[in-house]
Amino acid sequence: MAITVHPVTSTFVAEVCDVDLSKPLPAEDLAAIKSAFWKYAVLIFPGQELTQQQHLDFGRQFGRVESGRIVDNTQQKSRFGNEFSDVSNLDAEGRIWEADSRQREYKAANRLWHTDSSFRFTPGMCSLLYARSIPPVGGQTEFTDERAAYDALDAATRARLAELIGEHCLATSRRLGGFSRFTDEEYQRAERVPQLLVRTVPESGRKTLYLAAHVGGIYDMPEKESAGLLQQLMAHATQRQFVHSHRWREKDLVMWDNRCTMHRGMEYDDLRWARDMRRVTIADAGNSCELAGVKLPARYLAAVAAAVVGKTTAPTAEY
Ligand SMILES: [Fe+2]
Repeated sequence: MAITVHPVTSTFVAEVCDVDLSKPLPAEDLAAIKSAFWKYAVLIFPGQELTQQQHLDFGRQFGRVESGRIVDNTQQKSRFGNEFSDVSNLDAEGRIWEADSRQREYKAANRLWHTDSSFRFTPGMCSLLYARSIPPVGGQTEFTDERAAYDALDAATRARLAELIGEHCLATSRRLGGFSRFTDEEYQRAERVPQLLVRTVPESGRKTLYLAAHVGGIYDMPEKESAGLLQQLMAHATQRQFVHSHRWREKDLVMWDNRCTMHRGMEYDDLRWARDMRRVTIADAGNSCELAGVKLPARYLAAVAAAVVGKTTAPTAEY
């Protein structure tokens, strides 16, 4: 039986049924999934029974898996190995975290609108998040469609944004999320990475905003001006008409396109209920500026050099 695709709206979010992701997919099913993904940007696969290996194998059909993931720069390893992000409220032994745990404070920024790994020189293309256990109340993930948000901008704003470069930094979102345990040295290591504020998704040809809580400034723009513009754009892009809220069920696998959506986790009683989620992230084809042929200003050459030699000076945290 061929897969079935059930769109939530005509252009954003679809549920995909009649497919078993634990098995190798027939070519026509994979093609149909990719086609739906480029169109709807968020796909929900309910009722999947996946081992870690099967989760990885499905993700690999979309590109290179980001690796070297650690929980944060304390170097604590992910519970699931370095190709997985642990998006749970559980410690390394699988127990619900303590109220004052570093991880709890660190991951508080997951509740801010963001896109995964945009603070890396080569950002995340898509993420695949699998729910092993979920809280009975709260803990939804909200997604916003930045393509629709771009389409709704007036012509003057679109012209103003063309080729502007946002500066993405992990420390920016940590600070916004209230994380206060970075040392000065750790803050200094967190590189500002350039990414276009407006990019084009090649598979659909659609233009999209590319925002995140990681963005702290805009290249060559005074801070007062960039702060106001970024705040306006974030408010615009997260209006309810662009947002879908996903209520998790156990064994849901949800994948989203990080190039044209943002997401945020919603509140739940994280000291009471386990929310056991693991994520695989697929790397983009390159830095968004480079992919668009936009010359990188000299200020970012350190970030470029770090990417070329395969290192990143930013903490390679999950987020
Ligand atoms: Fe995320």
